[in-house]
Amino acid sequence: MMRIDKLLSELGICTRTEAKKLMKQGRLTVNGEVRKDPSDKINPETDNVCLDGEPVIYSEYVYYMLNKPAGVITATEGSEMTVMDLIADQRRGLYPVGRLDKDTEGLLLITNNGPLGHELLSPKKHVDKEYLAELAKPLQEDTADRFREGITLEDGTLCRPAELIAVNEKTCRLIISEGRFHQVKRMFEAVGNEVVYLKRLRMKNLQLDENLMPGEYRELTEAEIQDLLSGTSQD
Ligand code: URA
Repeated sequence: MMRIDKLLSELGICTRTEAKKLMKQGRLTVNGEVRKDPSDKINPETDNVCLDGEPVIYSEYVYYMLNKPAGVITATEGSEMTVMDLIADQRRGLYPVGRLDKDTEGLLLITNNGPLGHELLSPKKHVDKEYLAELAKPLQEDTADRFREGITLEDGTLCRPAELIAVNEKTCRLIISEGRFHQVKRMFEAVGNEVVYLKRLRMKNLQLDENLMPGEYRELTEAEIQDLLSGTSQD
């Protein structure tokens, strides 16, 4: 059982003060009956709660895909603009799964499903991440082979095998299965090149929706959520 005002605020629909106001206006019904007391308790799993006639869907977890724009940091707080500032849902517990550099664009999953995020980031799980990279210099012939064999970074770190697919002379897609700090940039540094533009296209089987402009986001579809959960402990 849960207070009605708490349900509305946890779902990011409104604050508790706003809930009090709109309930006073008779805009909220539970199982068809107007309720005016925000402290009334309901069962979010079984009671049919409607606001202005629209059902309030209770879901414990929410999932958003953001097309992260350049210039925004992947963090939940700080003095600089963060990816969380782009999300209207201010529910507690929402956080970005993994980190993209300030100048990197593309797919960022934002969820309050902490255990899932943890599993997707676990170094033991080797979750695929696919990037589009534009380079300062033309790709060399042996770069794909060197990445496939496992490239050694300048600090001596040995990377797991990665798949490089050339798009044109200075553009490629790269699939890595680990997530070291500045990994893609450092892999290209190790072969004497430089990444001038980087965008994440995919994480596991979740593909960036190309209709999302940088800075835009949307909720995942039910199918995308199921795909993402497949093979995890929540499958
Ligand atoms: N690799 C990088 O170098 N930067 C990112 O933002 C992501 C992967």
